[in-house]
Amino acid sequence: MSPQLLLLFLLLLHIAILPSLQLSHVDLAALADIKASLTDIPGSDFFSSWDITAPDPCSSFSGVTCSLSRVSTLTLGTGLSGSPGLAGSLSPSIANLTSLTQLILFPGLVTGPIPPQIGQLTGLRVISLTNNRLTGTIPSSFSSLNNLHTLDLSFNQLNGEIPPGLTRLQELKVLILAANSLSGELLGVWTQLLHLDLRKNKLTGPLRSLPLTLRYVALSDNLLTGPLNSLQSLSELVYLDLSMNKFNGTIPAELFSPSSSSMFLQRNNLSGGLPSKLVGSTSYGEGSILDLSHNFLTGELSPVLAGVESLFLNNNHLTGVVPEEYIQSVSDGTTKTLFLQHNYLSKFPSKPGLVLPDAVSLCLKYNCMAATVMEGLMSCPASAGEQMSRPASQCSGFNDHNSID
Ligand SMILES: *[C@@H]1O[C@H](CO)[C@@H](O)[C@H](O)[C@H]1NC(C)=O
Ligand SMILES: *[C@@H]1O[C@H](CO)[C@@H](O)[C@H](O)[C@H]1NC(C)=O
Ligand SMILES: *[C@@H]1O[C@H](CO)[C@@H](O)[C@H](O)[C@H]1NC(C)=O
Repeated sequence: MSPQLLLLFLLLLHIAILPSLQLSHVDLAALADIKASLTDIPGSDFFSSWDITAPDPCSSFSGVTCSLSRVSTLTLGTGLSGSPGLAGSLSPSIANLTSLTQLILFPGLVTGPIPPQIGQLTGLRVISLTNNRLTGTIPSSFSSLNNLHTLDLSFNQLNGEIPPGLTRLQELKVLILAANSLSGELLGVWTQLLHLDLRKNKLTGPLRSLPLTLRYVALSDNLLTGPLNSLQSLSELVYLDLSMNKFNGTIPAELFSPSSSSMFLQRNNLSGGLPSKLVGSTSYGEGSILDLSHNFLTGELSPVLAGVESLFLNNNHLTGVVPEEYIQSVSDGTTKTLFLQHNYLSKFPSKPGLVLPDAVSLCLKYNCMAATVMEGLMSCPASAGEQMSRPASQCSGFNDHNSID
């Protein structure tokens, strides 16, 4: 190669390659700040590749990807199982990475607030800062993140209210704020949300109108009150967990849709009866689970719930005879768990000699039937207690001692 050609080659190399490797000075300074405010917990080696003097942070720093000389995604921590993660705090300089589209912090012990400046990064589509020890409130500046698709701040120590502006973000599809100490009332309408998980907080007040797009709703273990009416038009739901709140009133019949095959309403103050028919023409099938236990449900068992794979109706005020359909479902193994203990049921009309498949758990304890005959069929949780039947004094009008035909 002649010297001229070599020079030309080097010039071309510089033009074609080096600029694309040259991370912007602003971003490099921000990465230095981010590194300075975090540390690897012993056993984690995330920052070992972060040599601030390295010629090309975009290809050498773990957790950093770039586009056009700017940092476009930042993943802090390795996420490897068994890695203890990072400690320290999040630097406000993250906000200088103005081309960032994704910010992830893997589980660790990062403390302190979420820098509100992150709300300036309007290109962000994903923020996931879970399982750390972040404190303070969710920055209201997040209401400006018009491209945000996923926000997951679960399992931290955040408090205060959910910023009202979050409910208006047009692109937000997944919101996971579970296991914090968030308080205040739930807000209505979250535009196009698909997945809402606010489990294990301190939210109060009634349910408000929710977007019809929702497929997954988990609000369990809060202090929510009032009726469930506002859920009745959520026809896309496949998963609903409202357990351990103080909801009252009846369960809207629309919620009994086999397309929504996981429903947890246990430990509320729900009353009224079970549905006599289901939404749609199908029935509950494999993998379906319905837990309505520990409420104040009354009336008789409905045959339409007989095909549910795991059915928990225990600790209610249900009366009457267990329908034949339930007995069929447990004996052919379609229903694998049928918990009916602690009700006022009067009869389990099984044929003598009924044998249940090994995988089936049936519990009928503490009802108004002479259940002793079925002792051999039953497998109850310890919480069902020792007593096979309710005291006769509680059963006047409900009991029927011919429990085997
Ligand atoms: C980030 O930007 C702010 C405002 O432009 C500036 O004052 C600060 O020095 C920057 N931080 C870094 C680490 O460059
Ligand atoms: C639900 O609870 C509220 C407040 O305790 C009460 O006013 C209301 O009557 C209850 N509704 C039903 C249907 O029990
Ligand atoms: C739940 O229902 C029980 C029994 O009806 C009642 O004593 C209790 O006050 C109710 N709690 C709420 C929060 O409505």
